[in-house]
Amino acid sequence: MILQKTEKFTLSRLNNIELLRDLDDETKALIKQYLNVESEYRYALREMSAKLENLDDYCQRHFDHNPIHHMESRIKTPESILEKMRRREYDMDFKTLRKNVYDIAGIRVICNYINDIYQIINLLCQQRDLSIQLTKDYIVTPKQTGYRSLHIVFDIELYFNNEIKKVPVEIQFRTIAMDMWASLEHELRYKSNNNLAEEEKNNLKSYSDTLYNIDLNMQRIYINNTVGFDGGNKDDDWLWCINWKI
Ligand code: GTP
Ligand code: MG
Repeated sequence: MILQKTEKFTLSRLNNIELLRDLDDETKALIKQYLNVESEYRYALREMSAKLENLDDYCQRHFDHNPIHHMESRIKTPESILEKMRRREYDMDFKTLRKNVYDIAGIRVICNYINDIYQIINLLCQQRDLSIQLTKDYIVTPKQTGYRSLHIVFDIELYFNNEIKKVPVEIQFRTIAMDMWASLEHELRYKSNNNLAEEEKNNLKSYSDTLYNIDLNMQRIYINNTVGFDGGNKDDDWLWCINWKI
């Protein structure tokens, strides 16, 4: 049960707010359009989060295993959207925004094991209201910094009055170890004003490789001691996921 609704800046309030009453019609129309666009991404985020929670619940029931450790989600702020559009030198209009910016609705899914990531994606791929728009597998091919995660953009179908709209949601899948590395590396880079010494950058890259090896070894121990998704397969067949192309 939803006990408290956060106050929304609704379209009807637009004309009643003292501060906004003097805005010209063009600006008001732009704000209205932004509110409409933002709400679509919010609905998409909610539906995708529900799908992920349901899958985690399903896996707990059927395989006695929760693949998802935790999730975080956010809607990109207007400042961040504008910064990205400016950086990429896009035209500043809603059509360009919808067509080119896929991470307005974003979910970060932190999994226990590498295998969990690919299993969840496999399960999502079976859902007919979802289609993959883009994948970047930085687990198999990490970024130069050492960053590892799997980024995938799903278009999700949303049902409105009498139309269906496809809205993109970006999901970043990581293990707990990858998340630890990414959070600290981000902080270190930020605190040093993007000025880390070469040696420190190399060290960070090698720590990422070390953590990846730990992830693989933890996965092996897990597989050896549980039944898992595939009914107790104890050989290295689970490594299929690492070579799997989405
Ligand atoms: P954005 O405009 O930032 O979204 O870049 P992009 O669309 O080219 O996406 P990319 O695949 O580079 O992923 C961007 C996101 O991944 C960032 O917002 C971070 O969350 C994360 N990321 C990418 N590279 C790094 C990295 O080297 N370190 C850390 N800590 N995070 C990274
Ligand atoms: Mg992004």
